[in-house]
Amino acid sequence: MTYQVLARKWRPQMFDAVVGQDAITRTLRNALASGRVAHAYLFTGPRGVGKTTTARLLAKALACTGRGTEPEACGTCASCGDFASGAPVDVLEIDAASNNGVEEIRTLRENVKYAPARGRYKVYIVDEVHMLSGPAFNAFLKTLEEPPDHVVFILATTDPKKIPPTVLSRCQRFDFRPIPPDLLTQGLTEILTQEKVEFDPAALPLLVRAAEGSLRDALSLLDAAIAYGEGRLEESSVAQLLGTSSPVQVRALASALLERDAAAALEAIDRAARQGEDLSGFTRDVVELLRRLLVVKVAPGSPPAELTPAEVAELKTLAEGPSVDELVYCLRVLLEAQAELPRSPYPRVEVEMAAVRATRRPQPQSIETLISKVEEAEKRLRAAGGGGVVPARPQSTQSSLLETPASRPTLPPPGRGPSEGAPPAPARPAPPASSGRGSEAPVAPAGNLGEAWPRVVSAVLAKKALLGSVLQHATPIAVRDGALAVNLVASRFHQELLADRGNRELINQAVAEHVAGARRLEVSAESAPTAGAAGHPAVQAARAAFDAEVVAVRPRAPQDVDTQEGEGQ
Ligand SMILES: Nc1ncnc2c1ncn2[C@@H]1O[C@H](COP(=O)(O)OP(=O)(O)O)[C@@H](O)[C@H]1O
Ligand SMILES: [Mg+2]
Ligand SMILES: [Zn+2]
Repeated sequence: MTYQVLARKWRPQMFDAVVGQDAITRTLRNALASGRVAHAYLFTGPRGVGKTTTARLLAKALACTGRGTEPEACGTCASCGDFASGAPVDVLEIDAASNNGVEEIRTLRENVKYAPARGRYKVYIVDEVHMLSGPAFNAFLKTLEEPPDHVVFILATTDPKKIPPTVLSRCQRFDFRPIPPDLLTQGLTEILTQEKVEFDPAALPLLVRAAEGSLRDALSLLDAAIAYGEGRLEESSVAQLLGTSSPVQVRALASALLERDAAAALEAIDRAARQGEDLSGFTRDVVELLRRLLVVKVAPGSPPAELTPAEVAELKTLAEGPSVDELVYCLRVLLEAQAELPRSPYPRVEVEMAAVRATRRPQPQSIETLISKVEEAEKRLRAAGGGGVVPARPQSTQSSLLETPASRPTLPPPGRGPSEGAPPAPARPAPPASSGRGSEAPVAPAGNLGEAWPRVVSAVLAKKALLGSVLQHATPIAVRDGALAVNLVASRFHQELLADRGNRELINQAVAEHVAGARRLEVSAESAPTAGAAGHPAVQAARAAFDAEVVAVRPRAPQDVDTQEGEGQ
């Protein structure tokens, strides 16, 4: 038994079976039922969307003598029999693409005047009519101008722009549309089921996308994929056949990025690389997937046209996790990497770095949360005002400004700072072990520091004003191993001042006196190298609130200063 290609085997035998051209088939069926048939039809549209198929169905119905007022050919009359045997007497099909047609058109002109052998009509189908040579076209035009009543022309073309207006004006025109992805999927599914081919539904979107709206292309690809998969249809083998990146790895990388799982992301890249994927194509496919997520997230009502509803539904589920900003962030990072790929001596490293960066994107926060955090930060700063001391706050943790780490149970619950409008220290409820030397807790509650630190500063100020003023800019962090850690961005001069042995002793004394569990001061290393502004309490607060990094510190232009101070409180 010879194998018949699917596109041939499954050419629709009824108007009903024509997929995705409902408006056209309905109009034609109405015309056939009512007998109001035009003398010339022009079918335009891309390849493989049903033009020739519909032309033949129309011809068969016109030639049929047994259909009465039914729009479909009866299938049993002599004319329909001719069709079945492949030799319809009253239908002539000319393929202008395979020869320029001069000979055929001449025969056609000879023939049109003779009455049909069987029924009411003689039908001439001229496929790819734009390919007719100049002389053939001219000869054809003459016939088209005054066709005998029993003649119907059906012209089909993929390139209507090449059809002269004189022809266009004589034809009833039907524009065939690319077949939407969901209908292509449905068509393929039906054929696969009837052909009893085992298939992985995930393989279909790949075929459908590659077919670009053409059912013929989809079926040809299906032929190839079935042969390639030795009778089965798998997503991976279809991807290989089409030369697209493995969708499994593309999805794996995309979801690893969205889940901030750097390890899984690197694994996906590794698997793709080991499967011999071209990293640039792979990255492009991940970008494409993220772009689709972004589109369904931002405009759920108008998903990308190339997707089937099932794919859209899947994307929508995937898109529930990340915020729009996160998707944009990941896209930006990957696009930058992709731009670097052709230049880079280490393309894989580029992709890996991008993946890791994307997983380390800032945490999404609702704008309301951010605003409330900024407001709270402002309050704290204002409250801390005068002495320039910010209430105790662990600066090195990743937690946001107002959230209380679980390890500091004596602080009030997060969100509502107790310090609304009040000076910081007294506003805090006094924790049980708030003061007194000798209580040797390994880590003093931060709440204590809010009270204790200003006392340290005052004590130092009283003895050495300059030294005390330096300490005013420090932020206490915590007491660890007998040392009070503070965060301080100090100039070189201040650093020297703090390093001075006598000064250190003075400070340590004050610390031992006022801070429970601490005997000395430790200036936090993290703040030492950062210059000026980066250590400013407002910047620190913003960093904590936005989980941000200080990227650069630039001197402020004079006019900025003016504006700032102009728009006062
Ligand atoms: N709209 C459609 N509905 C069902 N099958 C189609 C359709 N379009 C194309 N096909 C399939 O593709 C094959 C080629 O279609 P054809 O009508 O020759 O396309 P065109 O003339 O538009 O290039 C058909 O035999 C059929 O199997
Ligand atoms: Mg055709
Ligand atoms: Zn018939």
